[in-house]
Order: sequence, then C-alpha cells, then structure tokens
Amino acid sequence: MSHLKLPPLPPYQKQQRKSYAGFVRSTSVQSTPSPTSNFATSFQLIVTAPTSSLTNTNTKMSNDQKIPVGFVTMDHQVAGHTFHVGTEEIGMLKSVDDGSVLKPAGSPMCAAREIKFYEQLLTTTDKDILPLRDFIAEYRGTQTLAVGSKAVNFIKLRDLTHGISEPCVIDIKMGRRTWDPLATEQKREAEENKYVGCKNTVGFCIPGLQTHHIASGTYKKFGKEYGKKLNQNTVKEALRLFLNADSGLCRQLIMQILTNLWAIQKWIRTQKVYQFYSSSILIIYDARKLRQILEAKVRTPTTPDGEIRSESPLNSLQNQLKPNRSSSNSLRGSGESLNTLEASGSPTVPKTVYRKIQRSHSSMNNYEQEMQKMKDNYTLMLDNLVGVYDSNKEWVHVKMIDFAHTFNNNEISDGQPTVDKNYLDGIEHLVEMFEELLKQCD
Ligand SMILES: Nc1ncnc2c1ncn2[C@@H]1O[C@H](COP(=O)(O)OP(=O)(O)OP(=O)(O)O)[C@@H](O)[C@H]1O
Ligand SMILES: [Mg+2]
Repeated sequence: MSHLKLPPLPPYQKQQRKSYAGFVRSTSVQSTPSPTSNFATSFQLIVTAPTSSLTNTNTKMSNDQKIPVGFVTMDHQVAGHTFHVGTEEIGMLKSVDDGSVLKPAGSPMCAAREIKFYEQLLTTTDKDILPLRDFIAEYRGTQTLAVGSKAVNFIKLRDLTHGISEPCVIDIKMGRRTWDPLATEQKREAEENKYVGCKNTVGFCIPGLQTHHIASGTYKKFGKEYGKKLNQNTVKEALRLFLNADSGLCRQLIMQILTNLWAIQKWIRTQKVYQFYSSSILIIYDARKLRQILEAKVRTPTTPDGEIRSESPLNSLQNQLKPNRSSSNSLRGSGESLNTLEASGSPTVPKTVYRKIQRSHSSMNNYEQEMQKMKDNYTLMLDNLVGVYDSNKEWVHVKMIDFAHTFNNNEISDGQPTVDKNYLDGIEHLVEMFEELLKQCD
C-alpha cells in the first residue's frame, strides 16, 4: 500500500487552457491530397510556407496575451498548451536571441513539481540520476514575464529547434497510464479514454507531429485528433510520415534516433528513482539535412554493371538549372523533378525522375508547392556547392520532456521502489518500431 508524502492537494482544477489541436497560425491552410495515406490525409494540415510566430503585432491577440518584447510564440510546437487566439490561454514562448524556449509553469502543483525535478537534477551527485542529464533539454532556470497584465512564471529550456532549418518534430507521450497518483477520478477517467488505440497496445501515444515534407516542400502538421485515432498499426505510419519515408528511409537518421533511444531505454530499465507520468520523448530533426543526404544518394547512382557513378555538385546544379527536354517552359510549370523510391538497379538507390504535370489555372496550390520545392532544391544545391551546411552540425535531437507529473519514488511508495514499468513498456515498443524501420532501410 502506498501513501503520499506531498501536502494534500486542492481539488484538481481542470486545466482551462486548451491543448494543442492543430497549429498556431499559418499563411495558408489547405486540405489537398498528399502522397500520404487517406487516413493521414484526412487529419493533416498543410502549411505552404514556414509556420510563422504570433507576435505583439498580431492584432488578433487579446490584451491578456500580449507578449513581452524579445519573445515570440513558439512556432514549431506540436503539442501541449498554446496561445489560443481569442482566449487568455498562455502557451510556450521562444526567446528571439538566446535559443531558449519558455514553458508556462502551469498550475502551482505542476510548476513546483517540474521545477523541483530540474533543480534536483542540477545539483544531484546521485550516480543513478546523473545519466538523466544527457537525456533532457538543458534547463536554464525560471523567469517571470509580463504577459498582458499578468506576471507569468516560465521554465526556461534550450530550444531544441534552434539552428534547425526545417524542423520535423514529434511528441511521443510515454506510458499506458498518463494520470499521476494525485489525479482525481474525473481526471483519471478522462485520461484513460484518450489515445486508447495506441496507449493500450504499444504503451505510448502521439499527441502531435510536424514534418517538413520533402516531396512537396511543405510543412504538414498533425494534432491530437490525429493521434487519438492511431492504433498499433497506423502508429507505424505516423512514424514513417515523420521520417519523410516517402522520399526514402534514411539509415543515418534512424540510427541517430535509435542511439539516443537505446541510451534512454537502458537507463529506464534499471532506474528506480522516478515514476514519469505523462512525460514525452521529443524527437526533432532537420529535413534540410535529410534532403541533402537523400540527394547525395541520387547523385551516386550505380551503373548497370554495379559501379558507383558520382556527379559533382556543380554538374548537378547545371543539370537542374538547364531546361530539360520537355521543360523549356518550365517556369510556366510544365516540368517537375521528383525524388522517388523507385529503384534503379538496387533497392536502396532512389532515382530522379521527371514527370510532366498538367496544370490549369485552378491548380494554384500545386504551383505554389512546386515553387517551394524548386526553392528548396535550389537552396540545397547552393549548400552543396559552397559547403554552407555544416556537416558536423547537430541535426537530430531526442530528449525527454515534460516533467510536470514526474514523482520521486520515495514520495509515492512505502515499499521497495521499482522500475517505472509504465514508461519502460512504452520505450520498449518504440525502440522495437524504430528497429523495424532500420531493417527496412536495406
Ligand atoms: N526544449 C524544447 N525545445 C523545443 N520545443 C519544445 C521543448 N520543450 C517542449 N517543446 C515543445 O512544446 C510542446 C509541449 O511541451 P510540454 O509537453 O513540456 O508542455 P505541456 O504539455 O503544455 O505541459 P504540461 O503537460 O506540463 O502542461 C512539445 O510537444 C514540443 O513541441
Ligand atoms: Mg506535454
């Protein structure tokens, strides 16, 4: 039997802030078909230009949401609480100059718990806890900011999207049980009815993801409504979507993700200090770097006799810029280059194909997407030519986030502390899925 050493809680106040349901703001939202499956397509939101931040200049922001100078709303946030236009809800902020995000500390109990967690981690010498430091985004203390007329307490963390040109982001909430030991019956019931298809089978769920879709040059965002419909099969599709698998599964990317996941998994298998409820693993990578890797593969196709035929970036640029046979009027949109998964001799070597597309005045959306894609390709070629893109730059992050419901085992248990089986179950399944994806790379 367990007892709680924490002071008694006031009755659980249902959070009034709305969780992330879609995206904050975009220049254009469409529901056009995509190369993704019908299931995913019915939930996706396409942003044809990079998501932009809401700032003080946004006229739709209520007075109570006015953000202090030097901060903007977090543009690449995929889950959790956000500034909801027309309400007083407060979400994540981003500092414009120091590469930090600021998370509103939330209810007093959650705030105290999460801040205590980070502070303890800063000062601990406990060798069982120390590895955890590598698995979290750097904690930079707390900061009180005036949002409208309110003083709001924020937790400051390293912004993991900082320096990433085209961030692909997925929030994976760990554990079948997402309610903490202090949750009311009502809260418990609500949590148990969410994301059931996924949580109850694979022990984790996906409250949000964003991908910079390489094939179309657009951002695609999937919110919690998409996540709630996923099951043990479709969740694999969600991971593939996140990884831009329709442009080619990238071994280098999956290996980087797995290396980080294995380290977390190894620690979770033995640690008995914490129980993590409703905590997530946040995975972020740069689609621009991924595109560069996939393009490099295209530039080294094999000859029929199996030799690798390489093409210099300059040749590649020339070839891309010079009009092809069928596209002398390409700026009017008659030619399009696509990277496909079609094999040329070897199943691992994608080939560049050119396909003619029919365009009418009513297909402006396609036109915009193609223009974006052309710009992407052009940027990529310039990167390759002048070596701007630092190949040593970190382009993949895998971190544990959200510790508002994390408890020290000694706070909630009388008996022998145990490993966090709830979290463990989730990460074991997650690792398995990425390992399966790795096998599919060959
Ligand atoms: N360090 C970070 N860098 C970049 N993005 C982050 C970082 N931490 C969080 N995010 C973004 O913010 C989202 C929400 O974060 P988090 O889960 O910590 O907040 P929350 O769910 O609103 O919090 P709570 O459940 O405590 O109310 C994540 O899904 C992610 O998109
Ligand atoms: Mg969260």
